[in-house]
Amino acid sequence: MDFFCYHDDLLYAEGVPLIEIAHQIGTPCYVYSKATLLRHYHAFEQAFGGHPHRICYAVKANSNLAVLNLLARAGSGFDVVSEGELRRVLAAGGSASNSVFSGVGKRSEEIAFALQQGIGCLNIESVAELDRINQVALDLGLVAPIAVRVNPDVDANTHPYISTGLKENKFGVDMHAAYSLYLRARALPGIRVIGIGCHIGSQLLTVEPFIEALTRLLELYDRLTNEGFCFEHIDLGGGLGVPYHHETLPVETPPSPAQYISALLQQLGPRHIPVYLEPGRAIVANAGVLLTTVEYLKTTQDKHFVVVDAAMNDLLRPSLYQAWQEIIPCQKNLPRPITLADVVGPVCETGDFLGKSRSLAVAAGDRLAVRTAGAYGFVMSSNYNSRNRCAEVMVDSEQFYVVRRRENYDEQWASESCLPDGKQADENHSFY
Ligand code: LLP
Repeated sequence: MDFFCYHDDLLYAEGVPLIEIAHQIGTPCYVYSKATLLRHYHAFEQAFGGHPHRICYAVKANSNLAVLNLLARAGSGFDVVSEGELRRVLAAGGSASNSVFSGVGKRSEEIAFALQQGIGCLNIESVAELDRINQVALDLGLVAPIAVRVNPDVDANTHPYISTGLKENKFGVDMHAAYSLYLRARALPGIRVIGIGCHIGSQLLTVEPFIEALTRLLELYDRLTNEGFCFEHIDLGGGLGVPYHHETLPVETPPSPAQYISALLQQLGPRHIPVYLEPGRAIVANAGVLLTTVEYLKTTQDKHFVVVDAAMNDLLRPSLYQAWQEIIPCQKNLPRPITLADVVGPVCETGDFLGKSRSLAVAAGDRLAVRTAGAYGFVMSSNYNSRNRCAEVMVDSEQFYVVRRRENYDEQWASESCLPDGKQADENHSFY
């Protein structure tokens, strides 16, 4: 459940009408609901009952400092995949010791930084990475806590770009190699083995693939435990899906966090090992919308277009994954003819659309909200077409706060510079 709903034809985020935010802050603009965010976090937290656990929110889903700060204050740990994400967590008041560092390509400087900050665990993905972490730790006079991210070769039944647990994906270490990796890790003086984990993909809509992955992981866990390994946690990654359809018929019916976690705990059986989860989307996706304004209505021989001021540079998911996100008016029942139209942005790409074949009753100047935009929205935005990055707002009950102001043009190119005068291309070189 989220806190975006209509009262008297106006769409509200908690106690604030979205047209008011659009009016004061301008568009495009992301709007997050604090109550929704915390409700989703607590749903994960409470579902564990007495079982020891840690929620490590996946920072990549939405890394705004206000989001991280709210979660840190609620007690969340974090899953980071870069030094930048770890620095954000620290800047937002989170702690490294409650965080895990995932990712297939960690640089030595990033590993060193994480170790110096006291990272809770490094999730490793290859022999080469294990050896590098060992060396960096020894150079610093530290011991690195690690878990191996196992690739259990399970089909997550999700979009191929966000499926990560199949053997053809670049992620993790297959079961066989993982066993040898653990034996090797045990012998390294700069390494302390503390965990075992996996992450099989994102936007999963059933529990079965999670259970299949856990079952395979437990085979390895039991084998290693019998051989004297003493694990401090098992990390089952993120990936729980969310509904993207709200006003229309439900298409996605993902399990609730409670159903998902109870299935995991049942599969875990009598093993009283602490469970880590790394949810991103399930916490933030439906805690955010993207506000946009209709610039023009355009009709060609075959089609109607609603041209809005948000584009693929602001929200990439529809263009990149053909993702369907609901687009609804911030004020409904206005006297407008209903048209079936593609909702497109101003970017010069045919792939620049927010929605296709949508039934909308809109006129120029109307405000629209793209729903379920809190995850993988702003974080995947860019300056493509030299468009400034948009603003982000957090609603807290009847109040709202700008948690990232809109970028301005000077900021957009502040770190660029021209060549000094007199430096011309060498004319003796051929064009190619
Ligand atoms: N842990 C690891 C190691 C991950 O790679 C991911 C997501 C997560 C946790 C969080 O997964 P979640 O709970 O959010 O599903 N940009 C794509 C999603 C990419 C997900 C990448 N990894 C999208 O917009 O659908």
